[in-house]
Amino acid sequence: MEEITAEALNSENFIEQQVSAISETVGDGLAINALSGGVDSSAVTMLGHRAIGGRLKTYFIDNGIMRQGEPEWIVAVFKDLGVHVEVIDARTEFFDAMSGITDPEEKREAITQTFYKDVFGRLVRESGAKHLLQGTILTDVDETVAGIKRQHNVFEQLGIDPEKTFGYKIIEPLIQLRKDGVRRVAEALDLPETIYNRMPFPGPALAARVIGEATPERIKTVRQATVILEEELADSGAFQYMAILHEDHVTGIRNGARDYGTQIEIRCWESVDARTAQPTRLSYTVLERLAERITSEVPGVVSVTYGITTKPPSTMEVV
Ligand code: XMP
Repeated sequence: MEEITAEALNSENFIEQQVSAISETVGDGLAINALSGGVDSSAVTMLGHRAIGGRLKTYFIDNGIMRQGEPEWIVAVFKDLGVHVEVIDARTEFFDAMSGITDPEEKREAITQTFYKDVFGRLVRESGAKHLLQGTILTDVDETVAGIKRQHNVFEQLGIDPEKTFGYKIIEPLIQLRKDGVRRVAEALDLPETIYNRMPFPGPALAARVIGEATPERIKTVRQATVILEEELADSGAFQYMAILHEDHVTGIRNGARDYGTQIEIRCWESVDARTAQPTRLSYTVLERLAERITSEVPGVVSVTYGITTKPPSTMEVV
């Protein structure tokens, strides 16, 4: 698949081409798509609705590992754009699938299977749709094919036929673009800036930020720390920032007594396309405030560290 760079991209032409390609592929049938609220799935939602209108059913899968308040926020944003989003409560299914798993790639695989086989499989059967529209971009394919991380949404490039494996066809209108190109298309699709300039967020969501088992309780810890980061670093201009829950417990002190608690690592990245990245040189004032707020507001956390490794050899997420 040939890359379209952000420089070479003509957003209006691209949108026109993809809208007619989607109409042609879906014909007079139905399609579904899952909207996570990221720029990729938001752009695909708008392309799909332009192409086939109400014959595209858009779902927000509440998998229990999204950030605080996401389902409500996304539903409201798309309501303003005239797109109805149905929320599917799949929290128990995802936590059951991740239960007992500590290996990063096994965790990614459990999330992939739950999304594609269980949840989308069921939605396709119930709706009678034949196609799933999704926002895979070129970087997802590159990292998966290079064997760095199995991105949750890549199949064909791994020799997996979604129709045989899951019972539906996948349409990927953004597969030739990288993030910078998708942002331009999203803007041209009249999405609000809170979406087209939104920080990237991984498909495996907060489970990508928990080292070891992703239990509801451990996800809650990382979610609370994420709220603080998003408040404190909103004006940092960074490409992406994240809170990570470590597996080890460390000895701390609280109110003069020993408190054997957990550890949060903060990472904040400068990057253009996520292929390489450098840690942001955050000021000590900001770092100290983050440490103070996280240890006092997130139950159980006694230690906060800042990641200072570049990608490579690090990756941006930990899982
Ligand atoms: P890494 O951790 O591989 O992340 O350096 C690079 C960028 O990709 C995001 N990321 C993902 N995005 N599905 C996605 O859609 C995934 O499975 C996934 N894993 C990582 C990550 O947040 C960063 O922006």
